[in-house]
Amino acid sequence: MARTLQAPAGTPQRTTEGIDRVIAFANGKGGVGKTTTTANVGGYAALAGAHVLLIDLDPQGDLARDLGYTPTGGDEFFNALVAGRTPPLLKDVRPNLDVIPGGQALEDIQGLMVSRASRQDAADFGDLLHAAISPLADDYDLILIDTPPGERTLVEGAFAVSSAVVIPTKSDEASIDGVERIARRFLAVRDRNPMLQLAGVVLFGVGPRSLRLERSVRTALKEMLGEVAPVFETRIRNLEGASADARKKGLLFHELEGAVTQAQKDRLKSLRAGEKPADGFFSRSAGSLAEEFEQLTGEILARLAEIEGSADQ
Ligand SMILES: Nc1ncnc2c1ncn2[C@@H]1O[C@H](COP(=O)(O)OP(=O)(O)OP(=O)(O)O)[C@@H](O)[C@H]1O
Ligand SMILES: [Mg+2]
Repeated sequence: MARTLQAPAGTPQRTTEGIDRVIAFANGKGGVGKTTTTANVGGYAALAGAHVLLIDLDPQGDLARDLGYTPTGGDEFFNALVAGRTPPLLKDVRPNLDVIPGGQALEDIQGLMVSRASRQDAADFGDLLHAAISPLADDYDLILIDTPPGERTLVEGAFAVSSAVVIPTKSDEASIDGVERIARRFLAVRDRNPMLQLAGVVLFGVGPRSLRLERSVRTALKEMLGEVAPVFETRIRNLEGASADARKKGLLFHELEGAVTQAQKDRLKSLRAGEKPADGFFSRSAGSLAEEFEQLTGEILARLAEIEGSADQ
């Protein structure tokens, strides 16, 4: 049965304040939509005119797939973290959208922190990340961090610098257990970053015809989260064709929607000219995902404003 979350007892250790308008996307379970949501919410916010920075804190470096930039090994980010420097940015990956790319080198963070732990007053990973990002914070309206499914050090580091956490989840039991695990980790890190708030849970990859399942998952999540955070109204439907196309092309859903329409026009033109049409995209459902991500971005930004409003009081 779902349990309601409560903050654990214990004495706070060192504190690092989160940075305003930084959202970490996290779930202890893999493949639940963290990267897709980070990329598309960031893409929409940028399209709406916000100056956005996306940080890929995942050694898998998957953000590169969704945005279509050339993957890096993450070495520059790793080296900057170790040296206490601001990492180099990939500028203008889209208008208004910059990225700090991740990659395999970030796997070494865990070992680095273990080897440093014996040193007195050694900074932890949250401190390193804070030092790397805080000089950039004023340049952006919104900073989104994509986190890996495991790697506790990286996830807790992201939580240490964030002001809010968004948890995407699928509707199966293992993913929902992942929500509970990450929500507990969030509560533990709050001692360290008192500014951190749970923004909400996103239902991701929901079957188009499983309304009853969706309702029961929402009820279970609401019981688990209690008053801590909402489950966002918008859910992201399970559309494998469109999502595979998006990754293959390195396009966000709203961009894919435009590309599909253009490809259709081109095919019709070729047919009219009696030529063999070029291979086009195979899915036409990018539009509905684009709409869902547009709505979700609105909900997340409204929730962020609400969190900030309550923090100011
Ligand atoms: N609407 C969708 N319906 C079905 N599959 C989708 C949808 N959107 C994205 N996917 C695919 O689902 C898979 C998992 O998504 P994603 O990589 O965003 O999850 P993740 O939580 O970041 O995974 P990881 O834990 O490995 O980092 C990817 O292959 C992605 O392309
Ligand atoms: Mg991912």
